[in-house]
Amino acid sequence: MKVPYSYLPQQFADPAPILEEIAEVIKVGDFTLGPRVEKFENLFSDFIGCKHAIGVGSGTDALFLSLKALGIGAGDEVITTANTFVATAGAIETAGARIRFVDCADNYVMDVSKLEAAITENTKCIMPVHYSGQPVDMDPLLKIAQKHNLKVVEDACCAIDAEVGGKRCGTIGDTGGFSLHPLKNLNIWGDGGVITTNNEEIRDKLRLLRNHGMVNRDEYAFYAYNSRLDTVQSIVGCHLIKDVKWITDMRIKFAESFDSAFSQLSDFIKIPPRPANERRVYHMYMLLVERRDELHSFLLEQGIDAKVHYPIPLHLQQASEGLGYKMGDFPVAEKQAKNIISFPVHQHLIDEQVQYTIDKVKEFYKA
Ligand SMILES: Cc1ncc(COP(=O)(O)O)c(C=O)c1O
Repeated sequence: MKVPYSYLPQQFADPAPILEEIAEVIKVGDFTLGPRVEKFENLFSDFIGCKHAIGVGSGTDALFLSLKALGIGAGDEVITTANTFVATAGAIETAGARIRFVDCADNYVMDVSKLEAAITENTKCIMPVHYSGQPVDMDPLLKIAQKHNLKVVEDACCAIDAEVGGKRCGTIGDTGGFSLHPLKNLNIWGDGGVITTNNEEIRDKLRLLRNHGMVNRDEYAFYAYNSRLDTVQSIVGCHLIKDVKWITDMRIKFAESFDSAFSQLSDFIKIPPRPANERRVYHMYMLLVERRDELHSFLLEQGIDAKVHYPIPLHLQQASEGLGYKMGDFPVAEKQAKNIISFPVHQHLIDEQVQYTIDKVKEFYKA
């Protein structure tokens, strides 16, 4: 049996309704911004439960432009975690700020108890990452942010439909950044991103930042960027946003089956804490396992497209050379990089594929 990581051929097996609407855009040649982008932005803000959504070119841009809108740049520090996708740190660097890492906790996201020790007089912002769709503990994080007068940009790129403490991820900080990359839970046919905010002033600044600072065709408020969500991609987004609840529910269902089966293998597999006040959306289903590399090769041989996200934490990457970190600085992230594995958990799996994955993992550890 094959258990693929990608589900895109199934998801887009019938693209006709989307293509029909795209054909309308081609007839009128309305390719940048306009009512279709606005429609998607409105659907997105309604779905997330925030006041404003601004469509941009990617999740990375959503984070970088958020920092720009909050006035964060040269001389400022932004705190995030070392075990995130490279784009989080890349967005901080692109904004001209300095990256400071803190370690993660057993649930693979920022260990908020270590946050305060990382704050310096230059710290201006915290960028918690709801990595893999696992929410960060935002209440204590916000208290620390308020105490030190810091901005908060949530990296919610993996976390559409996630919640913590009754609040939706991406609505808790000053802004939230979402990715619409093809393998995200809400995806489009290429790159795209969305910034969420409840602040009108930040919304207006972001609308200018993503579009050359243009107030109108002839007047420019400041020099800025070209990072608009494509009109054609907004059409795809409008079609797919209707499915997000179902997508999330399917992923949660499969993750719960995995959790229940793997809890019987506690000598080999560590399931992260699963507090009841969170809605985890399993953009990735990740576990810490013994003999990770052997298990990974075994599963690939068995047709299960398991992945490692990621084998080298950011503070040990060449890209971080100038930041002055070394091995041992973030022991939890370092241990996770050695032991973490992700199993396919997408909405187009069937129960037999989930069971097959469980059986093969059990077979590996029993052998
Ligand atoms: C945690 C995290 N942050 C940021 C990004 C960047 O999003 P994009 O690929 O849309 O630029 C991703 C995408 O994979 C991500 O997983």
